[in-house]
Amino acid sequence: VPPRPPGPPRFTGTKLVDDCEHPWRPLRNGDIRGPCPGLNTLASHGYLPRDGVATPSQIIEAVQEGYNMNNQIATVTTFIAHLMDGNVVTDLLSIGEKTRRTGPDPPSPAIVGGISNHGTFEGDASMTRGDAFFGDNHSFNQTLFDQLVDFSNRFGGGFYNLTVAGELRHQRIQQSIATNPTFSLVGLRHITAFGETTFPVNLFTDGRQASNPTTRGQLTLSAARSFFKDMRFPTGFFRAAVPSGNEGIEVVFAAHPIEPGRNHGVNNYVVDTSLGSLSDPCGFYTGFVNTTIKGLYPNPTGVLRRNLNINLQFLYDALSPPDCPQVFPYGRN
Ligand code: HEM
Ligand code: MG
Repeated sequence: VPPRPPGPPRFTGTKLVDDCEHPWRPLRNGDIRGPCPGLNTLASHGYLPRDGVATPSQIIEAVQEGYNMNNQIATVTTFIAHLMDGNVVTDLLSIGEKTRRTGPDPPSPAIVGGISNHGTFEGDASMTRGDAFFGDNHSFNQTLFDQLVDFSNRFGGGFYNLTVAGELRHQRIQQSIATNPTFSLVGLRHITAFGETTFPVNLFTDGRQASNPTTRGQLTLSAARSFFKDMRFPTGFFRAAVPSGNEGIEVVFAAHPIEPGRNHGVNNYVVDTSLGSLSDPCGFYTGFVNTTIKGLYPNPTGVLRRNLNINLQFLYDALSPPDCPQVFPYGRN
């Protein structure tokens, strides 16, 4: 039976996390990494299993311990990923590509593709990763990182901050609209595309910077390179000063608002609100469960059905979407 997810830790202040018990180590043959610089770094420091395959509880513990990510965002994000990309029978999720190490797959159309799987959690217009349409949606992309650096210099005085995030988010979306005929920004991706741009501000900046208003939320470009490219804490890194998540997402969105939608051919962006959006969390929750998860698991039975229901319950409890009734596509256990 999938265990109840961990709650918040007892101590939630800043502390040294680049410590002796968590040395950075280079990748060994077979170690899996993927599109998330946050999780990649935790695996390379041993906060997560270094091979890149973990349980949801391990992921929640690790993001809380290593970054001081807040319990709600940690839990919601992890169960969204696990339900789409993980194996709910073995309780294992790959932080990158599909692997046999998550155990035997449930019947198709289930994918269990790991978080690199395009079109579930992973999506287009990432800051430092290319669109799947162009062939690689998970590796560090130097050209895109150079653009992040350029924007940080132009809009952030040499730092990555919320102002830079607003401009870079817009730029990446416009680039994808203009070049990727399959560009998609519907449902979950409309939410994560904006949320992810705040994580470097809130979680990659050193917790000791927070006490000074002029350095708070200003990510140095060497720290950015360390996380995004090297999957490594900056030497002597202290985690966030308070439990944090996507604070400032409304600032990033307000800089250049856009409705959810997708391209039907390049430069032909068509609004599609059917799977919810940043401004429609209940629509997101309902569409996620009734369309996305039901699409992957149309007729689950036995342990698979039981575990889907348990994981969906964990998600609903953590999300507690306002004025939004829970839905039960598989009945109740
Ligand atoms: C991107 C999963 C926690 C920072 C992503 C992506 C996935 C993912 C699937 C790729 C989305 C895309 O851009 O296409 C997760 C899961 C987490 C988690 C399941 C569990 C809680 C974190 C944490 C941080 C973080 C704790 C920071 C400390 C980022 C950033 C990106 C990203 C900055 C955007 C990368 C880019 O645009 O180039 N994450 N993540 N994530 N994640 Fe995570
Ligand atoms: Mg992506």
